[in-house]
Amino acid sequence: MTPFPVLFVCLGNICRSPLAEGIFRHLTTEAGTTETYPTDSAGTGGWHNGHPPDSRSVQVAREHGIDISDLRARRVEPVDFERFRLILAMDRSNLRHLQDMAPPDPSATIALFSAFALGSDIDVPDPYYGGIDGFRGVYSMLFTGCRSIVAKLEAERASWSGNTSSVR
Ligand code: 4NP
Repeated sequence: MTPFPVLFVCLGNICRSPLAEGIFRHLTTEAGTTETYPTDSAGTGGWHNGHPPDSRSVQVAREHGIDISDLRARRVEPVDFERFRLILAMDRSNLRHLQDMAPPDPSATIALFSAFALGSDIDVPDPYYGGIDGFRGVYSMLFTGCRSIVAKLEAERASWSGNTSSVR
């Protein structure tokens, strides 16, 4: 099976997108599809390059049995638009940044996380300046969304045949 790499993108790559990456990997591990859907995360800003996830994201993930403490932040790079098949932005500001950065005909599908996952146009809110409950709310949104994405990709897999035009 040709791998279908998925990239999650937020602003700093320390709160939302590493949590999404950890949840997505947890779900594909359960489904036995980690090699089909390799995943990573990145930020549109580079201030936290090399930093571990925010301790509140690490804590909330751990409350659900997911360890994201080994992840390290990085900035989105031009090559990401070729290496990944699906790039999901946490909010509309991140999406605009990605669309501005993308080459004219990227091989990746670029979409808002909630739009791709759930068909709703809502942002995953930035929890950085709030408390732990904001991170718990973000976890809940990301878990629901990632479960839907895994199901959607699996449903589409049979029709790929090397062509991903139906995965939108
Ligand atoms: P994230 O949250 O985009 O979900 O990783 C943020 C992390 C850091 C900052 C903003 C948002 N910051 O301004 O440093």
